[in-house]
Amino acid sequence: MEVYNIGIVGVGTVGSGVYKQLKRKASILKKKTGISIHIKAVCDKDTKAVRKAGVLKRECVPSYRDMIKDPEINCIVELIGGTSIAKNIILEAFKKGKDVVTANKALLAEEGSDVFKAARKLNRQIFFEASVGGGIPIIKGLTESLVSNRIIRILSIINGTCNYILTRMTHDGMSFEKALAIAKAKGYAEANPSLDIDGIDAAHKITILAELAFRKKINFKEVSCEGISGIKEWDISFADQLGYVVKLLAIAKEGSEGIEVRVQPTLLPKDHILANVNDSYNAVYLMCDEVENMLFYGRGAGAKPTASAVISDIIDLARNSLGFRQKLYLPSLKAAHTKSISSILSRHYLRFSVIDRPGVLAKISSILGRYSISISDVIQKERKIGQVVPLVLLTHETYEKHIQQAVRQIDKLSVIKRHSRVIRIEE
Ligand code: HSE
Repeated sequence: MEVYNIGIVGVGTVGSGVYKQLKRKASILKKKTGISIHIKAVCDKDTKAVRKAGVLKRECVPSYRDMIKDPEINCIVELIGGTSIAKNIILEAFKKGKDVVTANKALLAEEGSDVFKAARKLNRQIFFEASVGGGIPIIKGLTESLVSNRIIRILSIINGTCNYILTRMTHDGMSFEKALAIAKAKGYAEANPSLDIDGIDAAHKITILAELAFRKKINFKEVSCEGISGIKEWDISFADQLGYVVKLLAIAKEGSEGIEVRVQPTLLPKDHILANVNDSYNAVYLMCDEVENMLFYGRGAGAKPTASAVISDIIDLARNSLGFRQKLYLPSLKAAHTKSISSILSRHYLRFSVIDRPGVLAKISSILGRYSISISDVIQKERKIGQVVPLVLLTHETYEKHIQQAVRQIDKLSVIKRHSRVIRIEE
C-alpha cells in the first residue's frame, strides 16, 4: 500500500472535520484508491481546538514551519483561512517542494495570481475544491468534466449561511438574528460572519468560479457586492405574495462588452430551478455552449461536506505524486447481492377502472387488506352511476410483491373493467 504523508494547518470547523473524516474513512479510502493517507503533523495556535479535535500527541507540532521542513511530508493542507499568514504558509510550502490543498476562498480571490504564479515558478500544485460550494465538485466540474465547453453564464447560491437565514425567514418566519445564531452553531458561518451576511464570501467564491470559467483575471475589488442584512421580514412576505422568493445570488456572465460579476439579493420566481435550493444547500447553475444548462447542487457549508471536498483534493495530489496513471482505481470487485424488485418497499399509486356502484371500494380494500396493504388516500372524482370511472388509491409503504399479488386478484373482480395501473411513489 502506497503512503502519502500530509500536514494539516488549522483545526477549526473544516480542519477538525478533515482530521476526523480522514481517520473515520481510512479503510474506505484505501479500498477506493489504493493509497493510505497518513496525517504526519497537525498544528493550530488554538491549543483548545487541537484537543477538541482529538489530535494525537505524536501528531501535534508547535508551528507550521515544523511540518514544512519535514522532508517526509508531501502536502500541506492549509485550513486557517484569511489572507496574510495563510499566504506565507502556502508560499513557504511551495519553496520546500510541498503541494498544497486549501479551502481559502478569500486568499484565492484576492491574491490568487501571486499564489498561482509561485506554484508555476516552483512547479508545485495547489488544489482548492473546498473553496467554493462546500461538498459540491464544482471546481473539478468546471476544469475537468466541462473542459470542452465555453461557459456563458453562472447563476449561483454559494453562501450556505445566507441561504440558511433566508430559508428560515421564508419558511418559518424566523428572525434574522435567530437564524444566524443557528447557522453559526451548525458550523456554516465564517469566524467573522459579516463575511457571509455582507456577501463578501459569495463574492470571493464567484470570483474564483468566474476566473476558472472565463479564463480571465477578475479584479476582486471590481466585483459588485450586496449582502442580506437589509432584507426584512416584510420583503420576504411581499415577495411571497407576488410569487417570488428572495435568494442571495452570485452571478457571472461573459458578454460582448466584458465580464459581469456580482452578488446581490434577488427575487426569483417560485418555479425557478434555484428557488427550491434551501437551508445550507448551494447550487451552481451553468449555461454552457455544448452541454447547455447544468445544475450542481449539494451541501455548501459545514464540516463534513467541506472536509469531503478537501479529502478529494488530497487524494488527487497523492495519485499525481505517487505516479498513479489511472484515476479510477478498479481492482477486481466481489459480486454484489442485488435486491429483487419484489422485495422493494415503497408507497404506491393504484388506479382502478371500476363500475360506479356501492360496495366496490369495500371489495377492493378487502383484497388489499388480505395482503396487509394499508390505504392512505382514496379519490373518486367522477360520478356516473353504473358506468366505468377511475378510482385512485394511495398506499402506505408496502412490498412490491404484495401489491402485484393483490392487483392480480383485484383485476379478476367483475366490477373492474380494465387492467389496473400501479405507479410507485418515491418520497
Ligand atoms: N461560510 C461559508 C458559507 C462556508 O456559509 O457558505 C463555506 O464556504
